[in-house]
Amino acid sequence: MKVLVVGGGGREHAIAVALARNPETGIISVMAKQNPGIAALAQKTLLVKETDTARVVAFAKESGADCAFIGPEAPLEAGIVDALEEAGIPAVGPTRAAARLETDKGFCREMMNRHTIAGCPMYRIFHSNDDAVAFIQNYEDDVVVKPIGLTGGKGVRIMGEQVDRAGAIAYVRSLNGEAVIEERLLGEEFTLQAFVDGNHLVPMPLVQDHKRAYEGDTGPNTGGMGSYSLPDHMLPFVSRSDYNRALDIMKEVVAAMSRTGQPYKGILYGQFMNTADGPKVIEFNARFGDPEAMNVLSLLSSDLTEIVCRIAEGSLSKSQVTFAPQATVCKYIVPEGYPDTPRAGETLTLGNSSGALLYYANVEQKGDHLITQSSRTLAFVGIGDTLETAEQSAEKAASGVRGRVFHRSDIGTRTLLDRRIAHMKELR
Ligand code: AMP
Ligand code: GLY
Repeated sequence: MKVLVVGGGGREHAIAVALARNPETGIISVMAKQNPGIAALAQKTLLVKETDTARVVAFAKESGADCAFIGPEAPLEAGIVDALEEAGIPAVGPTRAAARLETDKGFCREMMNRHTIAGCPMYRIFHSNDDAVAFIQNYEDDVVVKPIGLTGGKGVRIMGEQVDRAGAIAYVRSLNGEAVIEERLLGEEFTLQAFVDGNHLVPMPLVQDHKRAYEGDTGPNTGGMGSYSLPDHMLPFVSRSDYNRALDIMKEVVAAMSRTGQPYKGILYGQFMNTADGPKVIEFNARFGDPEAMNVLSLLSSDLTEIVCRIAEGSLSKSQVTFAPQATVCKYIVPEGYPDTPRAGETLTLGNSSGALLYYANVEQKGDHLITQSSRTLAFVGIGDTLETAEQSAEKAASGVRGRVFHRSDIGTRTLLDRRIAHMKELR
């Protein structure tokens, strides 16, 4: 079985590692920049923009790919799955139309609304400055302003946290009034990812990501600085009933997509805010989370290649998907100045990272040296029977890296977890 992995980040390295656990699986890779971890696993690599669907499809055909796994959202939006399928190559990833769940925030909300799917916050979609500004001026509570399209998780402005009302208005003007404006939800965020074959959905362990750049959840929003998961695959501030509600929402989305002739196939990523009234949908992504993929794929004890085949055939079932009952902590190393003014071109030296898994991301290898680029550099994943042991392992590896980089040492610590639990108790 030959699988094309599209994308060159930490997430795609984790996908390639999980696929390569099956010795019969051959990996070929398409990425914009050489990821040393993926390149080491791949039989063949094409360095090209992942949105160049024509070249990706030609490469997949000439390399004899049996199927493809699409990591990032940009190629999904460019219609890579449609193009691969036309060439007879099934893919883990939704068609361009189905990927609108992520790529068009308005579509996502309208779909939830039309199918009366629970967990949709108050929202309005705007296409004009005047209407959007008037709405913010007249709305009593805090709002969140989101550009309609893809922004790499960095385009959202939250009133009461990052901006005041005047700031929210200025921001919506800078978007020319093209925005989704939502009520600001208060609570604790969690990520629920699932394998989906068009009709069947199989969930993965819950993960919590950390979007803010600095310790204690301060600083600018990033693509995600790190994440953790617990041995029972739950989170202590998410009750069984919250979990079931979130899972039902995801199942209803899959059913609605299927009913409307746009069946959803691939990884469905639900970003939820657990509020006083239970889980609400922040957004859906049409792919694995980065870093969250590294948590769950490091625990996957079944064969990812088999899962890929089942998704392609539409015959996925729960019995094919098992995860080890352990905790994971993922910490990203990022360049100094990330995300706003990242220092690229700096040399890194790894310390003793034994015990933790290493996933490469936006990093260049030159001989024995690793050189930072402008985005997240590399990630360490600690695995353990408890959160504490997993955290210690990731932290030891991350703090051993020398160079002009930083990471968040608080991710996965008891202190941070206790704060989340206390916050949820306070809200309920
Ligand atoms: P997104 O790009 O939709 O993932 O949003 C980025 C981040 O903004 C999320 O992870 C949340 O922390 C925050 N956010 C988005 N929507 C809301 C909302 N309605 N209420 C509160 N926070 C939100
Ligand atoms: N970790 C957030 C994302 O992948 O969108």
